[in-house]
Amino acid sequence: MPLICFASPKGGVGKTTLTANLADALQRLGHRVLALDLDPQNALRLHFGVPLSDRAGFVAGLAQGGGDWRAALRRAPSGLLLLPHGPTDLRGALDLAIALDREPDLLGRPVREMLSDPDLVLLADLPPGPSQPLALLAPMATMVVGVLQAEAISAALVPEIESGRFLGSGTMAALLAGRLRVVLNGVDLSSRLSRASAEAVARHLGYRMLGAISREEAVAESLACQRLVLDHAPASRAASDLREIARLISLALPPPLATAPPAVPAALPALGSQA
Ligand SMILES: Nc1ncnc2c1ncn2[C@@H]1O[C@H](COP(=O)(O)OP(=O)(O)OP(=O)(O)O)[C@@H](O)[C@H]1O
Ligand SMILES: [Mg+2]
Repeated sequence: MPLICFASPKGGVGKTTLTANLADALQRLGHRVLALDLDPQNALRLHFGVPLSDRAGFVAGLAQGGGDWRAALRRAPSGLLLLPHGPTDLRGALDLAIALDREPDLLGRPVREMLSDPDLVLLADLPPGPSQPLALLAPMATMVVGVLQAEAISAALVPEIESGRFLGSGTMAALLAGRLRVVLNGVDLSSRLSRASAEAVARHLGYRMLGAISREEAVAESLACQRLVLDHAPASRAASDLREIARLISLALPPPLATAPPAVPAALPALGSQA
């Protein structure tokens, strides 16, 4: 099955927001989607209404042996599957980094198991900047979505994205660069600087630009309400931007099967209603 990674050289640019909301938009287009949180901030679940008290998680437990990833799965009312990171602290994060250094397959094996389901689309939310999960997953990815903000600093980050340096080095960087697509998030059409930054990046990247998303209060508000943008503000410009990017991603994916095989357990803990 296809793997789409959301990554960025810079933090706070909208990776988690895009992973959650594009996962939702792709599920609405008929794909079966698994959203996987690889960031110790454990924030992806918040977009899906998972209660803060829910300690389920996959990556946080890997240093202690992990167990079956299927046990931490949650199912949204739309049918979308979510695999939260799980809570961790400084010691836990350092232990995990050491464990993954010694045995990358602690993460590689379960991800390959997820990818063995031909009808599931896996969307992975990565931590900001270079990380072990990014190094491990980029070679397996169908597409790496590099998220940039529509701001002046983004022009300085374009060479990182363009060369693939952000994903590897030497020939490997050149190979992985072919899978990179960019989403410009937070475009404010009423701001001259935001518009000029977005235009400059788009002109430079050409076909590698997957799309742009408007800066809107409704997006941040959706997170505050622990809801998805297409539920909370379906008529917003950001919602139509998300639908358009999901449509383009969907075109790059195999069409959903008419009858979905039951590759994951039918009975999973349900998430809070998003109605
Ligand atoms: N298009 C947008 N319009 C308005 N607010 C947005 C938009 N996109 C994201 N935000 C807000 O920006 C903040 C950061 O977004 P998010 O957490 O998705 O970034 P991130 O790249 O995952 O951050 P980190 O690098 O820390 O993981 C959040 O409060 C989110 O609601
Ligand atoms: Mg994030």
